[in-house]
Amino acid sequence: MKKLTVNGVEHELELPDDVPLLWVIREEIGLTGTKFGCGAALCGVCTVHVDGEPKRACVTPVGDVWGLAITTIEGVSDIALAVQRAWIEENVAQCGYCQPGQIMSAAALLKKRPKPTDEDIDAVLSANLCRCGTYQRIRMAVHRAARDLANAATPETPTPEGPAAR
Ligand code: FES
Ligand code: FES
Repeated sequence: MKKLTVNGVEHELELPDDVPLLWVIREEIGLTGTKFGCGAALCGVCTVHVDGEPKRACVTPVGDVWGLAITTIEGVSDIALAVQRAWIEENVAQCGYCQPGQIMSAAALLKKRPKPTDEDIDAVLSANLCRCGTYQRIRMAVHRAARDLANAATPETPTPEGPAAR
């Protein structure tokens, strides 16, 4: 038995090391938010975080990640929740299939670059393929999430009477 921690929950599994992480997440653990697309690290729809870094789960053997912390779209952090809210506000999704991977990649980008430029966003998110062409709205949503996170991190400036007095 080996241990895999997914979204903070430890799972004991008896599996060959070469089984793709995506299969383990979907078939063994039953979390189906992470999708299968190309199976060849080309489309990004299977993106999860491994110890905070984005990884293509379809080409990551589970043997490489025993004992590491896996986060899927179901186990999002504050950043990814802010991204999800921004996605809704900007009405990003069309068919929706690519969107869990887009959100996981956007969350990883915002963790590294809290104020990404258009170029930063395009460089990361263009590697996640969207057949519906939602890239313009993805860009707007990433900027919105960055603004929301920055505002949430800035404490309200107290007035002499206190923050509530206006
Ligand atoms: S299914 Fe993993 S990159 Fe396409
Ligand atoms: S929203 Fe349809 S593939 Fe991206």
